[in-house]
Amino acid sequence: MKYLIGIDTGTSGTKTVLFDKDGNMIKSKTVEYPMYQPHNGWAEQNPDDWWTAVKETLKYVGTENVAGIGLSGQMHGLVMLDDKCNVIRPAIIWCDQRTSAECDEITNKVGKEKLINITTNPALTGFTASKILWVKNHEPENYKKCRHILLPKDYIRYKLTGEFATDVSDASGMQLLDVKKRCWSDEILNILGIEKSLLPKVYESAEITGYYNGIPVAAGGGDNACAAVGCGVVKPQKAFTTIGTSGVVYAHTDTPVIDKQGRIHTFCCAVPGKWHVMGVTQAAGLSLKWFRKNFAEEYSYHAIDELAKTVQAGADGLFYLPYLMGERTPHLDPKARGVFFGISAVHTKKDFARAVLEGVIYSLRDCLEVLRENNIETDNMIAAGGGAKSELWRIMMADVFNVPTSVIPIADGVEAALGAAILAGTAAGVYTSVESVCKKICVPSEEKFPQNAERYNEFYEIYKSIYPSVKDIFGYM
Ligand code: XUL
Repeated sequence: MKYLIGIDTGTSGTKTVLFDKDGNMIKSKTVEYPMYQPHNGWAEQNPDDWWTAVKETLKYVGTENVAGIGLSGQMHGLVMLDDKCNVIRPAIIWCDQRTSAECDEITNKVGKEKLINITTNPALTGFTASKILWVKNHEPENYKKCRHILLPKDYIRYKLTGEFATDVSDASGMQLLDVKKRCWSDEILNILGIEKSLLPKVYESAEITGYYNGIPVAAGGGDNACAAVGCGVVKPQKAFTTIGTSGVVYAHTDTPVIDKQGRIHTFCCAVPGKWHVMGVTQAAGLSLKWFRKNFAEEYSYHAIDELAKTVQAGADGLFYLPYLMGERTPHLDPKARGVFFGISAVHTKKDFARAVLEGVIYSLRDCLEVLRENNIETDNMIAAGGGAKSELWRIMMADVFNVPTSVIPIADGVEAALGAAILAGTAAGVYTSVESVCKKICVPSEEKFPQNAERYNEFYEIYKSIYPSVKDIFGYM
């Protein structure tokens, strides 16, 4: 029996999972680590915390009889290494919002049209290019020392294999890739003054990039592209919504689809020669984690679910906007911050719990609406990530999206790790293609059907009207 390993270096922790070749989970281990916020809107992590977590989790699941290892990871984070391959500064991660000025710099230098034409996206604070320029502008001594720029999972790859490599899906989120041609853009690099030699070699996701103790390590993908594989979202009209630290509504496309207002991201996906679009909510699971840590520490996540179930849809007039770390889709507003609206003396913890859960789903509906505006429809939404374990969140998703919602039971909340393992199996020749193995392994079930869609439509309209009325006062600090 041959096994496959998927390693997912996420924001709250690293999950390493050993699967058999039918996709059954044999062993799984998660090690958590902190996210540092030196200033309001900043977010950093220590790459060696990721590596320590990988070593520990890999040791736990074991590597005997393993045919391949696949890597998945939080996207966009900037890891810089010096000439001795030591980490120069903490990684500036995906949800960090410090780079508005650098985004303007990128747009001005490249030109908005050319930027979208080549990188298929407008300059965004979440993406890596603006983070690189921020270090160049604010910490020139660190930039001078830099010899290698890597994304989070690619730092893990370097530690495992000694190779500097990335994959097309994660590279797309750096804003330095020619996304249509699936290679680094010399033009963008020249205009921004970033040396190509700093960047890793780009592979398709199901290619071998190196070896760990003789085991092939596949290129893998950004966590969303890997989760797509784990959800079997590898064909047009297929979509999933994941609630991890961030929240993402993702749809596969055979050609690059670009939203004119840049509200959703257009990236290469892990299926060779294909693309995807996704809307991103910065603080989805993060909102619930924040709420629990500060106001309901004595409750498990399951208990919060149960508490929120005791409240009617609409949280008795209480609304929550989940903009704890600014927002991407649809507002593209790094200054936005969270809002509770409509607080009354009748509200108690249970209403706040319900409002937080609902607010996250409303913001994901915003993502879905932008996909719909771009003619992307699906008749079934797969719920993924740790958040999909919440039955209430899945019921709300079916109602608020007005689409039946299902899960991939075999993936059990670790879709990104499963996707990474499938990519590894394909790279190692265990499977013939990503699409064929997904068809066999990633079978959706446990459908929730919309029951309260009309009522939730009314609430969603109120939710939508709150941001425009407060947006001008964000950023007063
Ligand atoms: C996607 C994004 C997040 C991270 C979180 O653009 O920034 O979903 O990948 O892991």
